[in-house]
Amino acid sequence: MKWATLKLLILQITWKPVAVLQIFTREFPNISCIVLQRISQYHNYTPILMHTNGESTTYNTRNDSETCLWHPSEVITGCHATRNDYACLVLNRNLHVPAQTVKEIWQKAQIRCLVDGGANHWRNFLSKHCQNEIMKHPEYITGDFDSITEETRNHFSAPETKYQHTPLQDETDFTKAIRFLLPELGKRNIHKVIVLQENSGRLDQIMANINTLFKLQSERLNIYLLNSSCLSWLLLPGRHKIKIPRELIDCGQWCALMPIGSRANMVTTTGLKWNLVRAPLEFGYMVSTSNTYASDEVYVETESRLLWSMGLEKNAE
Ligand SMILES: *[C@@H]1O[C@H](CO)[C@@H](O)[C@H](O)[C@H]1NC(C)=O
Ligand SMILES: *[C@@H]1O[C@H](CO)[C@@H](O)[C@H](O)[C@H]1NC(C)=O
Ligand SMILES: *[C@@H]1O[C@H](CO)[C@@H](O)[C@H](O)[C@H]1NC(C)=O
Repeated sequence: MKWATLKLLILQITWKPVAVLQIFTREFPNISCIVLQRISQYHNYTPILMHTNGESTTYNTRNDSETCLWHPSEVITGCHATRNDYACLVLNRNLHVPAQTVKEIWQKAQIRCLVDGGANHWRNFLSKHCQNEIMKHPEYITGDFDSITEETRNHFSAPETKYQHTPLQDETDFTKAIRFLLPELGKRNIHKVIVLQENSGRLDQIMANINTLFKLQSERLNIYLLNSSCLSWLLLPGRHKIKIPRELIDCGQWCALMPIGSRANMVTTTGLKWNLVRAPLEFGYMVSTSNTYASDEVYVETESRLLWSMGLEKNAE
């Protein structure tokens, strides 16, 4: 048999389907495979059609009514198609997200909260970018207040702004801020928090922020980490459909699925360049980084929490 003429292959795999598929992807860039895979002895074989060029992989057992829909373009542009039902947090870092986007996000937020030194950065932002505009007051300034300056306190002294001291040191100011806001978010029926957070390459801060997602992201609360380089949030166990903004596809932006903290079993994706079929993701085994899009819709099914991250920088590699 000549491999070059082979167009369709039917595989029955029970062991390491991903590893087998990776070999096919490498050797036969344009092949289609029907993979008959069985999760356990209690399940029938499920046919999965895969094209190794990463396009139009179909996964035929999905049930859309249970799928969580994500519209990251709303977060990235600040233009929310439906209601502006979110809270905005500014953490203790410079703001490098485009100024217009920052303003949109801030002005349309239902709750605006500055976290400790975030208030200094917000004051800088106002004096740099909002000289001739009236920006809404922060409603809350929270933190252990070891970073906010006296000048900033004086600047935000209007009665609309409430100061909430969160002195305990066993959690970060970011985590404590969200904990403090939880009752208010519940009362106002807000299920989304957009967090503006740059960091100057500090791995510890990156990890601490991700830990906050693991502590507080829930069915009722989505927390988005947004900065100039990427947007990240946590996918909970279940099915997810992520609408990818066209401009991110066109410039070949990166995206990633990371099983932080523990192994994630049975991860299935479609719409990515490198997809997974009921595969495990785990540090020490496989982590899906430097992936990119093959479609404007990415579908992810997972049994464990996964950090989804998508690049936003204009000049992607
Ligand atoms: C795979 O298919 C694409 C488009 O269908 C084609 O442009 C490309 O040359 C093919 N690659 C190989 C190695 O056959
Ligand atoms: C999809 O899920 C919904 C809600 O759990 C259920 O009512 C429905 O019957 C399911 N549909 C299929 C085709 O499994
Ligand atoms: C943006 O946030 C991510 C976490 O979501 C972090 O890994 C990255 O370093 C941040 N980039 C900048 C420029 O701060």
